[in-house]
Amino acid sequence: MWKKVACAAAALASGVAAASYDDIADIEVYGQHFFYTNNGSQFFMKGVAYQQNYSPNGSTSTTSSYTDPLADGDACRRDIPYLKQIFTNVLRVYAVDPTKDHDDCMAQLASADIYVIADLGEPSTSIRSDDPEWDVTLYQRYTGVIDSLSKYKNVIGFFAGNENVSSDNQTAAAAFVKAAVRDTKGYIANQNYRSSLGVGYATADVPSRDELAHYFACQPGDAGNKTSIDFWGYNVYSWCGDSNYASSSYGERVDFFSSYPVPVFFAEYGCNVGIDGGPTHRPFTEVEVLYGNMTNVFSGGIVYEWFMGDNNFGLVSLENNGASVSPYPDFTSLQSQLAKVTPTITQRSAYTPANSAPACPSVGASWAAQASPLPPTVNPQLCACMVQDLQCVITSNDEESYAADFDYICAENEDYCKGITHNATTGTFGSYSGCDPKDQLAYVANQYYIGQKRRADACDFSGKASIQSASTAAGCASLLSAVGASGTGAVPTATGKGTAGVSGSGGGSGAASSTSKKAAASNVNAPAFFEHGGLVMGAYAVLAAGSLLGMLAL
Ligand SMILES: *[C@@H]1O[C@H](CO)[C@@H](O)[C@H](O)[C@H]1NC(C)=O
Ligand SMILES: *[C@@H]1O[C@H](CO)[C@@H](O)[C@H](O)[C@H]1NC(C)=O
Ligand SMILES: *[C@@H]1O[C@H](CO)[C@@H](O)[C@H](O)[C@H]1NC(C)=O
Ligand SMILES: *[C@@H]1O[C@H](CO)[C@@H](O)[C@H](O)[C@H]1NC(C)=O
Ligand SMILES: *[C@@H]1O[C@H](CO)[C@@H](O)[C@H](O)[C@H]1NC(C)=O
Ligand SMILES: *[C@@H]1O[C@H](CO)[C@@H](O)[C@H](O)[C@H]1NC(C)=O
Ligand SMILES: *[C@@H]1O[C@H](CO)[C@@H](O)[C@H](O)[C@H]1NC(C)=O
Repeated sequence: MWKKVACAAAALASGVAAASYDDIADIEVYGQHFFYTNNGSQFFMKGVAYQQNYSPNGSTSTTSSYTDPLADGDACRRDIPYLKQIFTNVLRVYAVDPTKDHDDCMAQLASADIYVIADLGEPSTSIRSDDPEWDVTLYQRYTGVIDSLSKYKNVIGFFAGNENVSSDNQTAAAAFVKAAVRDTKGYIANQNYRSSLGVGYATADVPSRDELAHYFACQPGDAGNKTSIDFWGYNVYSWCGDSNYASSSYGERVDFFSSYPVPVFFAEYGCNVGIDGGPTHRPFTEVEVLYGNMTNVFSGGIVYEWFMGDNNFGLVSLENNGASVSPYPDFTSLQSQLAKVTPTITQRSAYTPANSAPACPSVGASWAAQASPLPPTVNPQLCACMVQDLQCVITSNDEESYAADFDYICAENEDYCKGITHNATTGTFGSYSGCDPKDQLAYVANQYYIGQKRRADACDFSGKASIQSASTAAGCASLLSAVGASGTGAVPTATGKGTAGVSGSGGGSGAASSTSKKAAASNVNAPAFFEHGGLVMGAYAVLAAGSLLGMLAL
């Protein structure tokens, strides 16, 4: 009750009227810049990272709980007047719950001229840096977030990944994130959502930052812009205290990105190094440069972060049990720096994009991801069809226990596992490598069962598997034949809603837990058995393939 009263008062005080999120002009990408669609004025981000109790760097987080920052209208009402004091026109949110209602916050934000960029993952459902996959569970999560936010005109777009490559040995993960970019862009187009909605990636400031930027923007073969990002976020903490253009490396970054084809902005900034404990006193002297002579190349930035957390980056503290906020010194210094800047606005009509897509980095000592082929497009329907069409399926949901079975089956005959292999470095992907772990295991267990001439005990796996009568459901025949008996054909693009049209899938529930992702990790290792290439293509493999063909013809 107290909360509602306090908020009503805040709303009155700030004069925020209930308004529709349709009344705001949307933002589009054109060349290297963002523009308002209503009048063609260039748009610079003055953003704030806005999510309480959330560590975006928490790559090993095992908790799946998070607080959706766009689902609490009262909190938005409390914060917006303060956000406006620091000239905020963008919020970056890291994890939203697609099942929640966002109308209240989004309408309030729209009437305050505040836009949103949302990450598509959440702590337990995102592309893992060390064991990357792009699968049905992730696809359904990401498209679910897009479904829930696409109607708001003040959404600029989405991040398909945030710092998923965070050390030198994780560059292979970039292929899976780029596959997510491709599929989410494709989804936005297929669903006829607003075409100005973009998809980007937010990179950590890691040694492979240049390769990453080129990899995500490159357009190999005839891919056009179907796989490349629409904008590039750069999380940077290199201007600490009263640094300068040269020693912060901002100057070098401007040089690098001056030839970049899409908008670049700081997706997180605001180093607080050297300040121990308590609220910090960041001078934010980088603001003058970011909105000064960097504006030809950078589209502004997003300060890290609104709420105070363990890292001591917060701009405000919550008071009175969260009923009100109180600015920290950082808030005040940021405010005075932003008050001084007047970035030079370019009109869209006076601007001609000059930069073309960069070359893709080649695989070598410092880069481990092929730009083509990418991991196959995720098609939930295909996985459901595949499972229905099997004679031996997995009945256990204990994904922790799958690893040994994957290892056993793939060691028995590497051909059994061709359909689920995924190696971004060699560019080798099975058509079913985008299915969830349970469905992948069912696929290879069935291969094994057929390879064993359907001996009853060959479909058991300690009670985890059992025989079913295979059926080809309506609409499945063409999908299955596109992929082929060996599970290596091209996967047709999904056409339906992300979560609809999936029936009979063993694992496509979308309710992934962090433990289920661990199980998936083990099968990433399974391909080790056949990385050395078709050495075992003997009579046995031919027999297995023949049996499978027979099975599919049923
Ligand atoms: C263009 O429209 C935006 C959004 O309504 C507004 O904020 C901006 O000031 C306008 N620019 C000009 C030059 O009128
Ligand atoms: C990268 O190195 C770390 C530390 O040695 C290791 O834990 C991790 O599994 C490695 N990741 C990959 C993808 O090899
Ligand atoms: C990968 O990116 C997603 C989506 O932005 C994010 O939610 C997740 O935390 C990132 N995962 C890792 C391991 O960094
Ligand atoms: C996130 O990680 C980057 C390095 O990847 C580091 O520079 C930065 O300080 C971290 N940010 C936070 C808020 O911990
Ligand atoms: C992508 O390419 C298509 C076709 O060439 C074009 O119509 C569209 O505007 C491009 N999208 C972006 C964001 O550049
Ligand atoms: C941009 O401004 C900074 C700080 O005033 C200055 O050091 C730098 O030389 C300028 N860079 C360019 C390209 O003008
Ligand atoms: C991919 O294949 C290469 C070359 O065979 C191998 O060195 C690498 O370990 C494989 N990667 C994974 C994740 O299995």
